[in-house]
Amino acid sequence: MDLCIYGLGYIGLPTAVVCAEAGLHVHGVEISETKRACLAEGSSPIEEPGLQEALTACLQTGRLKVSAQPTQAAVHLVAVPTPFQAGGRGDPQPDLSYVLAAGDAIATVARPHDLVILESTSPPGATEKLAKHLQGLGCDQLLYAYCPERVLPGHILRELVENDRVVGGLSPEATERAVEFYRHFVSGEVLATTARTAEYVKLAENTFRDINIAYANELAMICERDPVDVAEVITLANRHPRVQILNPGIGVGGHCISVDPWFLVSSAPQQAEVIRQARRRNDGTPVHLAKRLAALMKARGFSQAALLGVAYKPDVDDDRESPAWHFATALTKLEINVAVADPLFVDHPHLVSTQAALAQAEVIIVGAGHSVFKALEPEHVAGWTQARLVFDPTASLDHQRWSEAGFHILKVGNQTGWDV
Ligand SMILES: NC(=O)c1ccc[n+]([C@@H]2O[C@H](COP(=O)([O-])OP(=O)(O)OC[C@H]3O[C@@H](n4cnc5c(N)ncnc54)[C@H](O)[C@@H]3O)[C@@H](O)[C@H]2O)c1
Repeated sequence: MDLCIYGLGYIGLPTAVVCAEAGLHVHGVEISETKRACLAEGSSPIEEPGLQEALTACLQTGRLKVSAQPTQAAVHLVAVPTPFQAGGRGDPQPDLSYVLAAGDAIATVARPHDLVILESTSPPGATEKLAKHLQGLGCDQLLYAYCPERVLPGHILRELVENDRVVGGLSPEATERAVEFYRHFVSGEVLATTARTAEYVKLAENTFRDINIAYANELAMICERDPVDVAEVITLANRHPRVQILNPGIGVGGHCISVDPWFLVSSAPQQAEVIRQARRRNDGTPVHLAKRLAALMKARGFSQAALLGVAYKPDVDDDRESPAWHFATALTKLEINVAVADPLFVDHPHLVSTQAALAQAEVIIVGAGHSVFKALEPEHVAGWTQARLVFDPTASLDHQRWSEAGFHILKVGNQTGWDV
């Protein structure tokens, strides 16, 4: 079977590789010249365990080809970005221009009965919009399906194969064809539904996570006003057999959980009140924590902080929508100097080494719980810095060890050490 994939990013490239490994003839279409040049040299433009080796093999066998132009194929799979519209006011609105541009490319090569699959995370109705767009370009006999992507960066190659997939077509024939396509390389269950339901499933999953994290962050804000520790409150509450509260943190980032709920809000602005408030709570968390820390620092005459970790989550080199950056920006606006270190980013213009960040610091903040920070020996760190206060909103460090080495640990949702 021939497959044409539009967009060779975090999703499209691993999907192309997995499909090629499964025996499909894959043609990847990528508009970024830089990424195409990288791929032409046989290098993966993204970091993902196992991807480089698998890519090399697929390029060598010729099962994967890359170009700026589409080609004829039985299946066209769209994995382009779905960001927000720029410069909007009010609630963020999805920007489907990349999806429709991929549609323009498909229209140049499509033949009747080709299957078009949209994998980009999209607002409800996006598959229909893509179909109408292509019909407007004279393609009126194509089949359309939506299939959300749920892989975890760091485990993408395994999860692309093992995760269950939800597949929905605009017609029963499209659903059937799409299910058949995914069965080529998915060992998990392939669950059939309608396109509209499949679109909702992805948004429902990530919004569920966002709302639950917002609750944990709000609970921490409430607890910090009382002599309790939110971590203990949550641990004990979770002993209830039907309660599973998540951990609070520095906020929510990344290109999925902090973005996708807005797609639901945009589709039902009158109804989506809880979802909107949860998004705002999570977006407001870094600023709230920065204000709290800045007040404490000023009361002690401190003005220099070291922020360790700016990725949106541990052990990834991705700082899209990172709450740690929002936290650093808020601290800076409150006249605290912040030296930022994150060894997972190579050649980042705003970063310094961990030791350089610590050298001038009066307070240390853990912005992302990378393994490399967890592995720091607090006794060594004590020799690199005068700072003895550590704010650990991500609860990443071994607090007992750091306390024994002479550090005072500040936590979220807790008053200990925060007296100004
Ligand atoms: N990354 C994840 O973990 C993840 C998980 C689930 C869903 N998603 C969703 O998958 C979609 C893609 O995400 P990503 O992380 O792979 O994005 P990405 O930015 O890494 O990759 C998208 C690629 O598409 C290319 N592109 C843009 N327009 C194009 C066009 N018209 N033709 C060909 N190529 C084009 C871009 O140059 C880029 O290389 C998004 O909707 C995202 O929300 C991502």
